[in-house]
Amino acid sequence: MEPIHLGLIGCGTVGTGVVRILYSKRQLLADRIGIPLNLKYVADLDTTSDRGVTFPPGVMINDAWKVIRDPQVDVVIEMIGGEGMALELIEAAIEKGKHVVTANKALLARHGNRLLEMAVANGVDLVFEASVGGCMPIIKTLRESLVGNRVKSMIGILNGTCNYILSRITDEGIEFQQALAQAQAAGYAEADPELDIEGLDAAHKLAIITALAYGTPIDFDNIYTEGISRITALDIQFAAQFGYRIKLLAISKDNGDTIEARVHPTMIPFDNILSNVNGTLNAITVTGDAVGDILLYGHGAGMMPTASAVIADIVDIARNLAARASGRLPLLACQPDKIRPKPIMPISRLVTHYYFRFEAKDQPGVLSRIAGILGKYGISISSVHQKGRKSEGSVPVVMVTHFARESDVRQAMDAISGLDVIHGRPVVIRIENDNHLE
Ligand code: HSE
Repeated sequence: MEPIHLGLIGCGTVGTGVVRILYSKRQLLADRIGIPLNLKYVADLDTTSDRGVTFPPGVMINDAWKVIRDPQVDVVIEMIGGEGMALELIEAAIEKGKHVVTANKALLARHGNRLLEMAVANGVDLVFEASVGGCMPIIKTLRESLVGNRVKSMIGILNGTCNYILSRITDEGIEFQQALAQAQAAGYAEADPELDIEGLDAAHKLAIITALAYGTPIDFDNIYTEGISRITALDIQFAAQFGYRIKLLAISKDNGDTIEARVHPTMIPFDNILSNVNGTLNAITVTGDAVGDILLYGHGAGMMPTASAVIADIVDIARNLAARASGRLPLLACQPDKIRPKPIMPISRLVTHYYFRFEAKDQPGVLSRIAGILGKYGISISSVHQKGRKSEGSVPVVMVTHFARESDVRQAMDAISGLDVIHGRPVVIRIENDNHLE
């Protein structure tokens, strides 16, 4: 039987994991697909590093375009990342009628709508399970397992680097820069750590799954994104006193006329299951109208967990080829002509609970001046802490609010920053009390 021919482009960490599974589980995969897979090419600029496998002659090449030009290659596995050459290669592969597997969330977040249209027009599958949450099968879950649900919300920890950093600050009381250095030394952060720590990587992922969940186009540009670089050990300690942990959450909710889609540091109660997802692990709760809440939990990155998701995509494509059923599954879960835009709600309209920390002079009347401004903007305080007593300098005054509107909070913070008894900008952290799977 003629095998299905694969061309892998980019043999770094994840690519190497893919090769290892393809070689070590050749028979298992053939048994599960019904047709053998043949890894015809592995293209990488570095053709000499030891990847723990022995490539047959002619497999390891340094010219990615050879993969695209070869008419025998059925499936291109893009593992180089970024938006430059990866985009050109994927476009060319689709135009040549090749199926594509990618884990490239940045590329999908920015160019996914067009690439998916191209894939449909060319009758090929473009699949991307490994782009969100590493090994967690969130794409398949949304596209297939939950197809009988209206998804109401998704709340996830989708960036392992940030979760690791926040876990280190929480456990060791160290500051952000030190925790980031530890994440980099351990090899967790992206090549450009800004993508992780400023929340963009999580927002790329949220853009993809939000489209899948609600039948909308991918809309990365309108996702509110705030990273963790200003989170301090002090705020994490105060959070604990109020019964919360701080996590970088990717939150998306279907509010009917609009969608909420936002990534920001968030306080969640200790008894929220996500507050116990630590280190580099990822997790996501999905709430559907039929299933209620479900939880996916696992390694969001790393060689073998991510390769596991890539292999699942390769097998899907191969099974479709075996059954002559390419394009059977709509790539964004909804049939392309039924995808409808739905606006993402501006963050200014968010209504949630908030944590504030002010650095204030410790003198009579300060608290009432702060409270006066909050009252003017309709922000009601649910509890207050003021620690320490200093005759000079400032003391932290921390507060947790009842439901308040983001636009009011911003105006109140501007006004409070202007008080002569307040130093610097107040710290504002949103609180998520919806306690899924507690
Ligand atoms: N940089 C990502 C993370 C891993 O830290 O989770 C791949 O998506």
